[in-house]
Amino acid sequence: MSDHKILTVLGARPQFIKAAAVSRAFKRIGIREIIVHTGQHFDEKMSDVFFREMEIPQPTHRLEIHSLSHGAMTGRMIEGIERIILQENPSAVMVFGDTNSTLAGALAAVKLHIPVIHVEAGLRSFNMKMPEEINRIVTDRISSLLFCPTETAIQNLMNEGYSHFSSKIVRSGDVMYDTALYYVQKAKTSTSILKDLNLSGKTFVLATIHRQENTDNPERLAGIVNGLNLIHAEIPVIVPLHPRTRKMLQSHTIVPKFQCIDPVGYFDMLVLLDACRAVLTDSGGLQKEAFFFKKPCITLREETEWVELVEGGYNILAGWQSDRIAAAFHKGVQSSPDFEKDLYGKGDAALRIADEIKLYLS
Ligand code: UD1
Ligand code: UDP
Repeated sequence: MSDHKILTVLGARPQFIKAAAVSRAFKRIGIREIIVHTGQHFDEKMSDVFFREMEIPQPTHRLEIHSLSHGAMTGRMIEGIERIILQENPSAVMVFGDTNSTLAGALAAVKLHIPVIHVEAGLRSFNMKMPEEINRIVTDRISSLLFCPTETAIQNLMNEGYSHFSSKIVRSGDVMYDTALYYVQKAKTSTSILKDLNLSGKTFVLATIHRQENTDNPERLAGIVNGLNLIHAEIPVIVPLHPRTRKMLQSHTIVPKFQCIDPVGYFDMLVLLDACRAVLTDSGGLQKEAFFFKKPCITLREETEWVELVEGGYNILAGWQSDRIAAAFHKGVQSSPDFEKDLYGKGDAALRIADEIKLYLS
């Protein structure tokens, strides 16, 4: 075990899934890791279930900061993470993706001159109204080691002048692919979700909605729900509902006709992905997972960071209007793109990241 210690900042569901792969790789090659959980996601089904299923090391520090405005949440997280960095004195701070927890971890570290490692760097939607786009741009710029999942991500950084900066950029592949490959067999033998939902052997569509730009705009949210209602008239639609969306459906009295369930654990999700006919989503992670499971994806947004999926014919951008969503679904299920393409690496992204971090710290 090396003397170096990495402090990993986690907070939201997609980060637990990404961290599962990297923490395992750290263990394998002997890198010490301490985890801080900001508390951004806190329901059992949005947080603990992932630590339990994937045996992610328990956080050493928990900040319990959630359900605040962007500024309040990020500010309080920076303050808490700064205190922990001063106490732990890590060699580097690692952050994942593009949430407020990502930005807070990166800002707290860089101000204390601790190198920042950003996993899933270089992604861009070019929509500055998305909180995630702001978080990504700032986090990338203040990171020392940037792990890019795709060639497009590297190109985005080059276009922003990164060849003139001192940060190191590495194409690692996508750690979400590592996680999906590693757990899919275990998931199939350990969940009963298809039976529980009476979906065994049946054709169904899997959908998720949680993006702020969709949930917080009643016209968009109603349009998406109506689009899913149209599809549900043909094929059952199952939606594990993010708490944000549940609250917004209730407050705007939008009543879906399709089946909404609580958020599911990652193993249930893998089984649903494997069994479904198609995926409709505004999630970043789910767009890639649809590809991993060779399923057509209809994205309920105007743009995506994962442009290679659209270019390859795996993903159709449908926005929020019901007729467009239904039309994109019909087009998607009739398409047969080549799913054998290597877009996200070979499932060894986390090991590449761990090896590179070891080298960087030596
Ligand atoms: C956050 C990320 C988003 C990511 C998503 C993954 C930011 C800016 N956004 O969005 O990029 O795609 O996580 O799911 O960081 N809530 C609960 N229980 C929970 C978690 C959240 O009730 O366990 C509620 C909160 O009280 C809040 C709302 O959901 O009212 C939104 O939570 P928040 O963490 O602010 O943003 P997300 O929409 O989850
Ligand atoms: N996910 C899950 N249960 C759910 C919904 C999503 O396990 O009920 C997983 C999903 O398979 C993917 C990740 O959570 O691995 C994506 O998270 P989310 O959509 O919340 O965030 P995003 O990727 O958009 O940031």
